[in-house]
Amino acid sequence: MQILVLNGPNLNLLGTREPDTYGTQTLSDLESLVRTRFKDVDFQFAQSNHEGELIDYLHGARGYDGIVFNAAAYTHTSVALRDAIAAIDVPTIEVHLSNVHAREAFRHHSMLAPVCRGVISGLGMTGYLLAIEALIQPST
Ligand code: DQA
Repeated sequence: MQILVLNGPNLNLLGTREPDTYGTQTLSDLESLVRTRFKDVDFQFAQSNHEGELIDYLHGARGYDGIVFNAAAYTHTSVALRDAIAAIDVPTIEVHLSNVHAREAFRHHSMLAPVCRGVISGLGMTGYLLAIEALIQPST
């Protein structure tokens, strides 16, 4: 089982970035948490601040069993990322650390959600674990 965990812009700064909103754990803490929890899964972890590079990572995941994707701010703007998810035919779960629906109105809309298997928002890093669980054991 092969899963890509992909994080978008500014998430490289997790740990110090707006800790009241995003917590104090870093992206490498997330990777350790995930790898420790799911020892039998072959994970690829990637982060990019660049839309085109995120598209390349999505294309590279063709044939994988799933993608957990926090597209960060691109969630709310990117037709190109949405088209990439639609193009690759890999179950993709959109994840957000914060509850985007409890925040500014411009965060309430996701360009990606309609082409994703599901969306998890507001559960911090636990959201990534739940998304992986759902990819491993899809509901019927
Ligand atoms: C985020 C929410 C987005 O609105 C924001 O732009 C981010 C992070 C989250 O994980 O809560 O950068 O995706």
